[in-house]
Amino acid sequence: MRIIAFYSPKGGVGKTAAAVNVAYLASKDNCQTLLWDLDPQGASSFYLSGAEPLKGNKLSKLLEGKSPIATFIHSDVYPRLDFIPAHSSFRNFDIKLDQETDGNQLKKLLAPLSEETSLVILDCPPTLSRLTEQVLEVADQVYVPLVPTWLSMNSWNQLHDFAKSKKLGVKKLRPFFSMVDRRKKLHQELVKRGPELTANCLDVAIPYASVVERMGEEGQPLEKLDAKSTAAGAYRQLWASIKKDLW
Ligand SMILES: Nc1ncnc2c1ncn2[C@@H]1O[C@H](COP(=O)(O)OP(=O)(O)OP(=O)(O)O)[C@@H](O)[C@H]1O
Ligand SMILES: [Mg+2]
Repeated sequence: MRIIAFYSPKGGVGKTAAAVNVAYLASKDNCQTLLWDLDPQGASSFYLSGAEPLKGNKLSKLLEGKSPIATFIHSDVYPRLDFIPAHSSFRNFDIKLDQETDGNQLKKLLAPLSEETSLVILDCPPTLSRLTEQVLEVADQVYVPLVPTWLSMNSWNQLHDFAKSKKLGVKKLRPFFSMVDRRKKLHQELVKRGPELTANCLDVAIPYASVVERMGEEGQPLEKLDAKSTAAGAYRQLWASIKKDLW
C-alpha cells in the first residue's frame, strides 16, 4: 500500500481538486484507491456527490480503537474508489493527536487497510500542525500545488525548511504548478524556472480553467465532466508522474 498526500500550507491552491482527480484516475487505472478528506471543511465531498459524512461515528471512537476505520469508509463511490468524507469531529484531530504521545496515530489508523487498498490519498487542510507532521511522516510522497507567484515560492521554501528541520523527509516533497494562467508573464516565467527554483519539481502544470471550478457544481471528477479539456489532460499527466514516483 502506498500513501500520498496533497498538501500546502497555503489555502485555495488546488490541493482538493488534484486529490479528487488523481484519486479517480488511479481507480480507473485499476488501482484500489482510498481518498481521505482530512479537512473538516469537507471540500472533497462536494466533488464526489452523494458521499455525505457518516452519522454517529466520531473521531474519538476511531482513535480509541472503538470504531474501526472501515466504518468511516464509503465503498465504491466509483468502482475501486473508496472515500472517507470529512467529518465534523475531525476538526479536533490536532488536539487529539497532541494528547497522544504513542507514535504516529495516522500510521496506526491506516495500517488495517493495507491488504485491500493499493493507494491512499490524503487531502490535507492548509495548516502546519501536528496532523501535518504526521502526514509528512507517513506519506511516501507529498504533492504540493504551487500557484506561480513569488508568494507561493516563498511559502514553498518555508515548507521545505520546516520539513528539513523536523527531519520529515524533504525528498518526498514534490511540487507541481497549479492554476497556471499562460497569459501572465510571471506565470510563464516561474513555470519555466520551476526546476531551478524548487527541488524535485514535477514537470506538470495544471492550467487555470473554469471547467475545474465546475467540478464542485456538478459533483464529478474532471475526467467524467470533460475528459477532452486541457485541464483533464494535465491531471492525467499528474497521475502518470505520481505513478512513476511510486512504482
Ligand atoms: N486549475 C484550476 N482552475 C480554476 N479553478 C480552480 C483550479 N483548481 C482549483 N480551482 C478552484 O479554486 C478553489 C480552491 O480549489 P481547491 O479547493 O482545490 O483548493 P485547496 O488548496 O484544496 O483549498 P483549501 O486550502 O481551502 O483546502 C475552488 O473553488 C476550485 O474550484
Ligand atoms: Mg482543500
